[in-house]
Amino acid sequence: MNPYGSMRTHGTGTLRTSHDGDEVVLAGWVDRRRDHGGVVFLDLRDRTGIVQVVADPSAGEALQAAHDVRPEYVVRVRGSVRVRPEGQENPAIDTGEVEVAASSVEVLSVAETVPFPITDDVDPKGRDVAVTAEDVRLHHRYVDLRRPSLNRRVRVRAQTTAIIRQVMEANGFLDIETPILTRSTPEGARDFLVPSRLQPRSFYALPQSPQIFKQLLMVAGFERYYQIARCFRDEDLRADRQPEFTQLDVEASFISEEDLFALCEEMMVAIWEQVLGVQLETPFPRLDFDEAMRRFGSDKPDMRFGMELVDLGEVLSGTEVGVFSGALSSGGSVVAVCLPGGGSLTRKEFDGWVDFAKRRGAKGLAWGVVEEGGGLRSPLSKFMSEDEIAGIIAACGATEGDAIFFGAGETVFTQELMGAVRVALARDNGMIPEGEWRFVWVTDWPLFAWDDERKRWDSTHHPFTAPADPATFADDPGSAKSNAYDLALNGLELGGGSIRIHDRSVQSTVFELLGIDAEEAEERFGFLLRGLSYGAPPHGGIAFGIDRIVMLLTGASSLRDVIPFPKTQSGSDPMTEAPAPVDEAQLTELGLRVLPPPVKG
Ligand code: AMO
Ligand code: AMP
Repeated sequence: MNPYGSMRTHGTGTLRTSHDGDEVVLAGWVDRRRDHGGVVFLDLRDRTGIVQVVADPSAGEALQAAHDVRPEYVVRVRGSVRVRPEGQENPAIDTGEVEVAASSVEVLSVAETVPFPITDDVDPKGRDVAVTAEDVRLHHRYVDLRRPSLNRRVRVRAQTTAIIRQVMEANGFLDIETPILTRSTPEGARDFLVPSRLQPRSFYALPQSPQIFKQLLMVAGFERYYQIARCFRDEDLRADRQPEFTQLDVEASFISEEDLFALCEEMMVAIWEQVLGVQLETPFPRLDFDEAMRRFGSDKPDMRFGMELVDLGEVLSGTEVGVFSGALSSGGSVVAVCLPGGGSLTRKEFDGWVDFAKRRGAKGLAWGVVEEGGGLRSPLSKFMSEDEIAGIIAACGATEGDAIFFGAGETVFTQELMGAVRVALARDNGMIPEGEWRFVWVTDWPLFAWDDERKRWDSTHHPFTAPADPATFADDPGSAKSNAYDLALNGLELGGGSIRIHDRSVQSTVFELLGIDAEEAEERFGFLLRGLSYGAPPHGGIAFGIDRIVMLLTGASSLRDVIPFPKTQSGSDPMTEAPAPVDEAQLTELGLRVLPPPVKG
């Protein structure tokens, strides 16, 4: 196909001085129109870029036509390329050394005044940001998508999936589709349900991931599967969570964790090199889960800066500070974070950090500032011995003028709290370097976590994850490890996966521990269990959030900025106004009746 379509000869962004004198036909949108009486300048935009079109009195009718167009009209321009007079070049655009002298300007489509300017602003960090409120932009998303930064993100997304396909195909993976209308897939979120017309009172669930199907594709013998798969999860939305999102979903047979790590690293290297021109170093570092929690208070540690957590259990073993001794004597921990130079924080700022901890459910947050001579200025220092103070300062590697923050309480809660304090302190105090890419594998996840509310074990990853030791995991589920791994980048979880259970009896034991009895297991997962009993190869896999990868690649602050038609925080799309009520007739056909809204009172 003609690369620009048969209605035109060139892309607006492709013209250079080498085209001087060429007759061209262009078509695109009027980005800007500047009317200087006898001369009209149009900036004409298509997907390749922008070029300046000039209509002067010698253009005859084209001058009047150019005068009459408005921004965002779609026009076709005939004319000849000429090098701009000296001093009139525009280095801001690729075509800035040339312009097109119009001989005709033809309107292909008119446009109403657009509801907001199609321009980007620049934030203090030099990033492109929109000038208009998001709900207005989402309402007219097709206009917003013309905005340069958003337009670029959608292109980077397409480039990213193209690279992904190249790498997967080169490694012998087959792109295989799995159903969207299916049964519940347990990834820990709520399902979206679709009522069945043909079988009233029955529902499909939209897949939270293709997990079970990809395992059955291994049983079927495909050995290497991938899919760029849409997933649906009805969970509370945040900047890094959408109700429908896209995974690069991968599964392979006869492989080890190492094989998968190598494949994923090859993928990330290719993406970062081709999209950003950045050379990533491999292998990526690895942390086991316990170490990640101990040192960073997070299962997706941000490795771009230090400020690692310090366990003060030993130093404070004989402390008389009530909040510390209370935590330690009940089997909990005291965990510290040191902010270099944090002594310059004001009392109000320290109080702000105490509130930060309280908002996260902590009873409080203690703090101190290292003083000249090795003292600690702190509301708690009068309860501490000199040895304790010296021990704390040494353990934290702190020096004069640093601030130390202390959390005390149940170990995991306190590690996670101080992990959040670490990241927030670093962010607020400019300790996180820009432009660094710190990938890290987090390995050896616990197989189960105790769900205190429901008084039962829960899978940390999902119920199909293989225990590290299939012979012993059932004896002490709380300390059993799994063959699960996550890849984190700059403090965000990009992907996660595991080696799977391929032995039916191990799978049954896991279901039992999760409180899923044989009958329920048969009802929910019978098809998987049967699959596992017909010759299942050892297999494992992983899934990456493509939206999240593109968000980081493009410096976007929300997934909404990398999804062409995203949902808002409340799960709606202001443009289509989905979700929406449906006709009574449609409900009847589906055998459904809608309850009136609950009476507020
Ligand atoms: P998991 O649930 O960890 O694993 O999901 C894999 C990756 O998908 C992305 N992700 C999301 N992105 C945007 N919005 C969401 N609501 C959302 N939820 C998840 C994340 C996450 O790391 N079947 C397993 C994978 C496997 O075991 O192979 C699974 O889905 O980047
Ligand atoms: P309180 O004994 O509750 O008055 O707290 C004394 C000091 O210890 C205050 O500065 C609190 O913010 C702090 N504090 C209270 N609970 C904790 C906790 N769990 N971890 C760390 N510091 C705490």
